[in-house]
Order: sequence, then structure tokens, then C-alpha cells
Amino acid sequence: MALAIDIVTLFPGFFKSPLEESLLEKAQAKGLVRIRTHNLRGWTHDRHKTADDKPFGGGAGMVMKPEPIFECVEEVGKKAWVILLDPQGEPMSQTLAAKLARKKHLVLIAGHYEGVDQRVKDHLADQEISVGDFITMGGEAPALCLIESIVRLIPGVLGNKESVRHESFQSGKLEHPHYTRPREYRGWKVPEVLCSGDHQQVALWRHHEAERATRRKRPDLLK
Ligand SMILES: C[S@@+](CC[C@H](N)C(=O)[O-])C[C@H]1O[C@@H](n2cnc3c(N)ncnc32)[C@H](O)[C@@H]1O
Repeated sequence: MALAIDIVTLFPGFFKSPLEESLLEKAQAKGLVRIRTHNLRGWTHDRHKTADDKPFGGGAGMVMKPEPIFECVEEVGKKAWVILLDPQGEPMSQTLAAKLARKKHLVLIAGHYEGVDQRVKDHLADQEISVGDFITMGGEAPALCLIESIVRLIPGVLGNKESVRHESFQSGKLEHPHYTRPREYRGWKVPEVLCSGDHQQVALWRHHEAERATRRKRPDLLK
């Protein structure tokens, strides 16, 4: 069965073009994933469709109210794995993307302003995920990062299985460099071995280059 993803957001328009382009559009058209956005304002109860309020205890900024988030998630994702995008969450990784790609139904909650009421974290979300040690304006861009990384791992989404297998982080290393035509550009030549037709030598070269890149750029991965 296809993976279902429901996005809970105050800004559903944010996802319009990304979901209608390229591989995400194709994956949905092929029925490999079903993605829907839900505007939280649809679960508010006042005439102004209020989804945020002042923080108890004072201080700057607004906090997203719990009621619309709870009610929306309870309606669209009863048995789903509920993820809150949050800078305090578990760091997103390729390993986590692979785990999430095997789930049946994901609900992604995008926060805004100062974030969501703590009770959403304590009593609704199954997992909090962060896309890095920096703060974005809302959870929409982080949610899209998750979707991009998860959906491309669903079998049938990418044409070539090999391209996933050798990718950075997949094997605990960065990927080797890539070259395409022309063979020489502005005097910079493609390494001879790649044009040799010797598959064993090419594989060896790629292995060494992947190790070299990892040692230089991300030594932490080798530990
Ligand atoms: C401006 S941020 C709130 C930051 C919060 N006041 C804090 O200091 O932890 C608003 C929303 O953006 C999303 N967000 C921001 N940075 C993120 C990150 N690194 N990873 C995941 N979500 C993030 C979350 O949904 C968050 O509720």
C-alpha cells in the first residue's frame, strides 16, 4: 500500500508548487505516495479562526494553540505516526528517512511563531524531528525536507536503485565525485580512469575518492 502523508499547517499554499513538480508529482501520480495538506484554521472555533495566543507567563511572540492541532490530527491521522517538526527534536538523518519510508501513514505538524503548546509535544506527537541546529521561520520547509528525503526512498520513485545505494550517508560515507561531458572544460580534465572503461579501476577510484572526501569534509562520519 502507498505511504500516506498528511501535513498539518497554517500555510498549505507553501506546499503547492513543490508537490506539483518533478519526482514528488510523479510519485503521487504513480500512486506510490498520497500527500495532503490541511489548513489548521479549519479546526479553529472562533470567527477570527484564531490558531495562536499569548504565552502564559508573558514574553515575546505567540504560541500555537493546542485545540486545532489536536482536533486536526485526530481527524486526519487516527493511526498515523505523528511527527512534530521542532528544532529540539531528533536530528534528521538518512537512517531516519529510511525508517519513516517504511511507515504506512505519517502526519507532519509544522509549527510557527514561538512554536506549539507543550501539550502537543507531551500528548500528541510520537516523535519530534529537527532538520538542523538552526531556526527556520516555520515547520513548512523542514516538513518538505522530510518529505523529499522519505519519498525518494520509496521503491519505484527513483528510476535507478543504484543511485540511492551509493549516495552520501547511505554507507556512512560521502559519495564520490561525479563528472560528465565535456571531457575537458576550460583546461580542467576529467580523471583519466573514468574514461578508461575499466570498471574495476573506476570502482576503486570511486571508493578512494569517497573516503578522501569524507576524511576531509566530514571526519565525524568515520568515527
Ligand atoms: C521560529 S520556530 C520556533 C523556535 C522556538 N521558539 C525555539 O527556540 O525552539 C517556529 C517553528 O519552525 C519550525 N522549526 C524551526 N526550526 C526548525 C528546525 N531546525 N527543525 C525543525 N523544525 C523547525 C518548528 O515547527 C517551530 O515550531
